[in-house]
Amino acid sequence: MASAPCLSLLVLVAMASAASAQLSPTFYLASCPSALFIIQTAVQAAVNSEPRMGASLVRLHFHDCFVDGCDGSVLLADTGSFVGEQGAAPNAGSIRGMNVIDNIKTQVEAACTQTVSCADILAVAARDSVVALGGPTWPVLLGRRDSTTASKTNAENDLPPPTFDLQNLTTAFANKQLSITDMVALSGAHTLGQSQCRFFRNRIYNEANINTAFATALKANCPQSGGDSSLAPLDTATPNAFDNAYYSNLISQKGLLHSDQALFNGGGADNTVMSFASSAATFNNAFATAMVKMGNIAPKTGTQGQIRLVCSKVNS
Ligand code: HEM
Ligand SMILES: *[C@@H]1O[C@H](CO)[C@@H](O)[C@H](O)[C@H]1NC(C)=O
Repeated sequence: MASAPCLSLLVLVAMASAASAQLSPTFYLASCPSALFIIQTAVQAAVNSEPRMGASLVRLHFHDCFVDGCDGSVLLADTGSFVGEQGAAPNAGSIRGMNVIDNIKTQVEAACTQTVSCADILAVAARDSVVALGGPTWPVLLGRRDSTTASKTNAENDLPPPTFDLQNLTTAFANKQLSITDMVALSGAHTLGQSQCRFFRNRIYNEANINTAFATALKANCPQSGGDSSLAPLDTATPNAFDNAYYSNLISQKGLLHSDQALFNGGGADNTVMSFASSAATFNNAFATAMVKMGNIAPKTGTQGQIRLVCSKVNS
């Protein structure tokens, strides 16, 4: 009877790993040993020429993973006969970096034909972007395959809008098996990058839980009407450094988006925000852990999907 506990332990281990079926950090070690170096070199060059590109690549991986899993679906461009995700409200006129991924894919294809998926390139590029801007590193699990479909509807339903409050955000992340701690940590990606005025206008003109001088300064480039696409940094303190200043901003009521400030507004996430604000190491560890979890959302593996030759279109 001693074998019964052993068997249940085995079953538990098998269940725990089922969510990340077959993904492995060494997936391309034999089949494409230069892949990781090619991606890292190209990401570093892109970030050197425009630091914001690191932010854009991190966001692209998020927008991939939340819509039917990390399967490169966000990269599929619309055609006359194909409606993808790029025209969905959370993506339209907003996602960037697809050209950088296309360029990396061309280089990786030259090294190893039809071996490395676009979904994996996105996951590695997100990690390399964070590292290039001074953030933590983590081993990226690999072996995702690319979708042959995309869903504009699922992009609109599953990607949280900046109007969400804490409860709505919690639900949106729980739907992807991510905890409140994961959600607060992943929101820390807003230590990088920029937002358009149209996403924070209502906050700076109509909300009460905002620092007055901060709101006043933002109004100069984001008028009541017009200037919809004028940019402001999501982390007003250190826009191009991956650090924990985002959380100190929230404590000072300097969150740019309504959804940012919702994390520190007297609710159940306040303590997590304070712990990330007071310890960069705590934040870095939580962020790396949550990025691995996000990267494990519904991967296509084995014979599912395909390895695209060009990231913007399904193989013909
Ligand atoms: C918690 C819910 C989230 C909401 C409501 C949200 C919303 C937004 C919005 C409205 C923008 C500005 C887009 C624009 O102006 O074009 C933005 C930018 C950005 N988001 Fe989020 N986001 C969320 C979570 C995340 C997560 C989980 C990540 C990655 C792990 C992420 C990474 C980024 C980055 C890096 C940018 C800047 C992109 C750039 O400058 O190109 N966001 N987000
Ligand atoms: C948040 O969720 C509640 C209840 O589920 C819903 O009534 C409300 O409209 C949502 N808020 C936003 C901004 O979508």
